[in-house]
Amino acid sequence: MITRHFFLFLSQNNFIKTRAMKWGPKFGAKSVIAGETIEEAMETVKSLNEKGLVATVDHLGEFVYTREEAIDSANYCVKTLEAIATHKVSCHLSLKLTQLGLDVNRHLCRDNMMKILKKAEELGIFVRIDMEDYSHLDATLDLLHELRQHFNNVGTAIQGYLHRAEKDIRDLKGVNLRLIKGAYKESPEVAYQKQEEVDRNYLKIIKAHLLNGSYTAIATHDHRIIEDVITYTKEQGIEKTQFEFQMLYGFRQDLQLKIVEDGYKMRVYVPFGIDWYGYFMRRLAERPQNITFALRGLLSK
Ligand code: FDA
Repeated sequence: MITRHFFLFLSQNNFIKTRAMKWGPKFGAKSVIAGETIEEAMETVKSLNEKGLVATVDHLGEFVYTREEAIDSANYCVKTLEAIATHKVSCHLSLKLTQLGLDVNRHLCRDNMMKILKKAEELGIFVRIDMEDYSHLDATLDLLHELRQHFNNVGTAIQGYLHRAEKDIRDLKGVNLRLIKGAYKESPEVAYQKQEEVDRNYLKIIKAHLLNGSYTAIATHDHRIIEDVITYTKEQGIEKTQFEFQMLYGFRQDLQLKIVEDGYKMRVYVPFGIDWYGYFMRRLAERPQNITFALRGLLSK
């Protein structure tokens, strides 16, 4: 628990971030990040596709504070969509609304999303809005509802650690959702704190979304949850085409391939870009064993 809080603290610490960034992804991050450029990300996606895995790419970066940065981020998303189409890879786009100016101005963020979704629709690509910390939840869902009045090719992620997740799932019936446990440090007022409570609520929302006929992306590295979902879908007669599993790039690759072998869809979340610090620290917070990645990186320098 202390380790988790420590890495979540580091993930938000700009002073340490500035220094750590100088080391570059060399100190371990490169095993979970697919390079710095769109081209590198496309090469990674191609090699995943060759193994039967599909992907979603995420240009790393969060908490943009100026209009110019937000517009640059949106243009970069459009460039990424064009690369997905040019390379003819099987790949979605994942993004964060704070990257597109949610904290600067809601209208700016909406306009950026409209531009991205228009291009994505033209190219037949699905766009997933990642879920950030609790302070952005209402604004994210509110914007999603507005965007869905114009586009079908957009969905978001719902965090099972939140008390309100079950209600949010009900309100989002019919929407393609990624369901996750949740990666941020939230207070006991809004989120379950004990692992077994998080797991129980997580499974509950997965089953609820599947049972109401909605497309469900189950994003977890937890083999017990995956086994439960497989058993549940068989019992309920839910088709394999109504759901997919998702894992992060560089994690549990044997299990990813096994799931494909068993005939299920497995989507790998492929982060890329120079702004890798917050992402990497959150991964260390979730699973301190991931620190072996970092140590291996350091020792091989
Ligand atoms: P968890 O970390 O709870 O582990 C449970 C058990 O699984 C462990 O005890 C161990 O037995 C096994 N296990 C887990 N990792 C393992 C490993 N690497 N090797 C071997 N065994 C392992 N969060 C968020 O807030 N917003 C978002 O938008 C997203 N998006 C997202 C996309 C994708 C594709 C994924 C996979 C995850 C996210 N997340 C996220 C992160 C998510 O909320 C969560 O923090 C992490 O996935 C960690 O929780 P898990 O469910 O993977 O298992």
